[in-house]
Amino acid sequence: MYNQLFEFAVKAAENAYCKYSGFHVGAALLTADGKIYTGCNVENASYSMTICAERTAIFKAVSEGARDFSAIAVAGSSDGDFSKNCTPCGACLQVMSEFCGRDFKIILADGVHNLSDFLPVSFGEENLK
Ligand code: THU
Repeated sequence: MYNQLFEFAVKAAENAYCKYSGFHVGAALLTADGKIYTGCNVENASYSMTICAERTAIFKAVSEGARDFSAIAVAGSSDGDFSKNCTPCGACLQVMSEFCGRDFKIILADGVHNLSDFLPVSFGEENLK
């Protein structure tokens, strides 16, 4: 099942708008009820306005009312070979932590990881109290 999710991520990378980096990224987010939301990176001539594939997928899903997520697959490549890991950046991990627990699965080229493997602690709503 996670292999299939990874293939969705590879497919989503086809739509990457990455004319500045040339690095294509796709993400496929699986909800608890089995829906898949995909995303790609969308770059901008004002480089810092770029959004990653993971956040594109998460924001698409949340904007459509989904809140309960079980896994995200991420595939990245500059040459069509998606066999190397594309590890989510810190900003994307923080956004995942807003909606997902420590055991949220992150599927990379090398297999299955937990969100807590990459982000052991995060800023959360408790910190605002
Ligand atoms: N990028 C992602 O979309 N996700 C990641 O996990 C890492 C980086 C994008 C941002 C930028 O468009 C390009 O990859 C190079 O950093």
